[in-house]
Amino acid sequence: MFEEIWTEKYRPKKLEEMAGQKEIVNRLESFVKKRSLPHCLFAGPAGTGKTTAALCIARAFFGEHWHSNFLELNASDERGIDTIRTKVKDFARTRAIGDSFKIIYLDEADALTRDAQQALRRTMENFAGICRFILAANYSSKIILPIQSRCAVFRFSRLTKDEATDYLKRIQKAEKLTIDSKSLGMVFELSEGDMRKAVNILQTAAISSKKVTSKIILETAGKAEPKQITAMLNLALKGKFTQARKILISILFEQGLSGEDVIKQIHKEIFSLQISDKKKMELVAKTGEYEFRLTEGSNELIQLEALLAQFGLIR
Ligand SMILES: Nc1ncnc2c1ncn2[C@@H]1O[C@H](COP(=O)(O)OP(=O)(O)O)[C@@H](O)[C@H]1O
Ligand SMILES: [Mg+2]
Repeated sequence: MFEEIWTEKYRPKKLEEMAGQKEIVNRLESFVKKRSLPHCLFAGPAGTGKTTAALCIARAFFGEHWHSNFLELNASDERGIDTIRTKVKDFARTRAIGDSFKIIYLDEADALTRDAQQALRRTMENFAGICRFILAANYSSKIILPIQSRCAVFRFSRLTKDEATDYLKRIQKAEKLTIDSKSLGMVFELSEGDMRKAVNILQTAAISSKKVTSKIILETAGKAEPKQITAMLNLALKGKFTQARKILISILFEQGLSGEDVIKQIHKEIFSLQISDKKKMELVAKTGEYEFRLTEGSNELIQLEALLAQFGLIR
């Protein structure tokens, strides 16, 4: 049976259903109440609800007509500002149904050059009577000041663990999944606060069974358990090379992780090892070297073994 993608299936349809971003939600709701909307700039990392918030606003303002009053463009897909301008013009040509303005959501606005942004600013002004722009960008600093000063700026932050897991629990319930809170927490850790990633990990992990374990989640996310990596590094630090190597081999060949994934995790785990900062620095420098060799196509096992040996030598 065709399974709908959960990132769409569970995307909130109302502002009040959004997880976290409370202050943003409050400000946006007050615009809806007043039935007026300024141009907006949504700044923040991927998967924090920028597109979702824009879609919720469109629904709140236009109800069932939201589709015809909402245009979504992606600055890095369109071939430059001219195509964007043409599309805006076409969209603005017809009157908004039932309401006095239309909304244009321009994703990745920071992909536009400064010149293109100047042209965008003029377009925003020319159509201000008919259209409200919501620009989305990872960093507001990449948007020219003349645009920033014409927009209400909203800063989206990564969700906290509690906010994210509350939201994931809604999905868990709706999909009747069995998953303990430790594993749910792991989904969050692996997603690094990107909810698209979190929901995708959860959906993929649930493909074969409604019973989701942390083992399945780790396999899905293509990562070894952090504690396995830490154990391996600690053994290597103690000079117990043969035992450290056993773990490495299991990670590479039984769990099937790529050398690059393993080295990225080693890098991450170095910072939580119980060793001096000086040793951490040396190990981070070494890890960087070996990471480079791996990306150049050297043999994974040999390079990772050599890196483990470095951990032993640094004692
Ligand atoms: N604050 C949030 N509350 C609920 N779901 C969210 C939130 N942020 C992201 N998501 C979920 O993550 C996915 C991507 O969200 P989206 O709004 O497209 O992120 P972006 O900030 O990259 O535009 C969607 O499925 C959405 O439901
Ligand atoms: Mg988006």
